[in-house]
Order: sequence, then structure tokens, then C-alpha cells
Amino acid sequence: MNVRIAPSILSADFARLGEQVQIVEAAGAGLIHVDVMDGHFVPNLTMGPLVVAALKRITTLPLDVHLMISEPDRYLDAFAQAGASTITVHVEAAPHLHRTLTRIRELGARAGAAINPGTPAGVLRDVLDSLDQVIVMSVNPGFGGQSFIARSVDKVREVTALTAPLLQGVDIEVDGGVDLSNAGALVEAGATILVAGASVFGQPDPAAATVALLRAAKAGRLLGS
Ligand code: DX5
Ligand code: ZN
Repeated sequence: MNVRIAPSILSADFARLGEQVQIVEAAGAGLIHVDVMDGHFVPNLTMGPLVVAALKRITTLPLDVHLMISEPDRYLDAFAQAGASTITVHVEAAPHLHRTLTRIRELGARAGAAINPGTPAGVLRDVLDSLDQVIVMSVNPGFGGQSFIARSVDKVREVTALTAPLLQGVDIEVDGGVDLSNAGALVEAGATILVAGASVFGQPDPAAATVALLRAAKAGRLLGS
């Protein structure tokens, strides 16, 4: 699977959001990562379906919606209608995970499950057929700009082994603290999407940062293949 960079708008300048998204799109970003936080599942509040709908009007990139919220089922319809391409819920917030993933697909979106650093990869075993994407959290969710947890590289390897036999082609996305120092190793371990907040929008030149990250990721793919 081709490797893609998903800049996280959490670190973007919200007063110039459209412009910033178009800059990284032109630089070769593969998706736009949208972090939804509810102040309950995680200790921070961010954005909702309105922002997804607004982004849909100004970019052709897939919108990769990461729900860090309790009771995600209540909002699946709204995010699908707003134009989410992938909707990812946290396994820690979804007690009926199989039903939730099935519902996301029924709504016409790709279905994702995210696992926190403290959650073992094995929790995905019984829902593998219902998955289009896994997010391996490499920080504890809630904030941009945190330090990468090194153990996540092994976690990516474990998820890669779990999903390898599947026919549907599952994206393995890594989220949190991804930068030039770890991008290659993550792709070599099996990651197909790298989320990047601080290492793209936190940089003086987000376009150049996107290009550099993509280059580092592709170098990792050469090692891994
Ligand atoms: C963390 C979010 C991430 C965050 C990543 O809770 O899910 O998507 O924006 O930001 P960086 O790349 O700065 O760690
Ligand atoms: Zn995220």
C-alpha cells in the first residue's frame, strides 16, 4: 500500500484554515486529519461536523475524521453527512465496537478503530473484517505536539501482522509525535498513513515540511519492502 501523509489541522492556524489546507494539498498531502475532541473522553475541546463540512467545500482530499469522544454512535450520521471519508472511533469509547464499525460502513464511510498507547493490539482481533483503518496512537490523545512513545513502532508491527491476511486492505495510521526522526521506522514497520500536526503546521513552511515527511516515509517503505 502506498504511504500517505495526513496533516492534522489541530496544529493549523484556524483563522486561515482553508488556505493552510490548500497549501499542504498542493505539497502532496494524501488526506486531511480532523481531530474531534469532546472534553470528556479526552481533556480538550475542538471541532465538530461544521468544520468537516467547511473543509469538504475547499479540498478534494479525503477527510480523515478521528473521533476522540464518548458515545461516538450519536454523531456518526452527522460526520458522514458532513463529508467524512473515514470515521475512526476509539475502542476504549465504543463498547459495541462491531456494531459501530458496521454502522460507519452503512453510512458510506470507511470504518476505523483507534487504540490508545495503553490498549493492546489484540482487542482488534474480533472486528478485523469490519475494519478499513486502524489508528495506532503514539501519544495519549488530547493534544498536539506531544512526544512520540517509542513502543508504538512495535505496536505498528503487531497491527500489521494482525491485518496482513485480510483481503480488504486495511490502512495502518500512526498518530502522535510523528516527525522526520521516526517516519521511516514507522513505515518500515507497516504504517501506511502518518498523521502529522506539529511537524507540518507547527513548522514555518508547512509545504516543505509535508514534502520532507513524505520523502522520509517513502525511504522507510523502500527499507520495509
Ligand atoms: C492527538 C491527536 C493528533 C494530533 C497529532 O490527540 O489525535 O492527531 O493532532 O499532533 P502531533 O503530530 O503534533 O502529535
Ligand atoms: Zn488524531
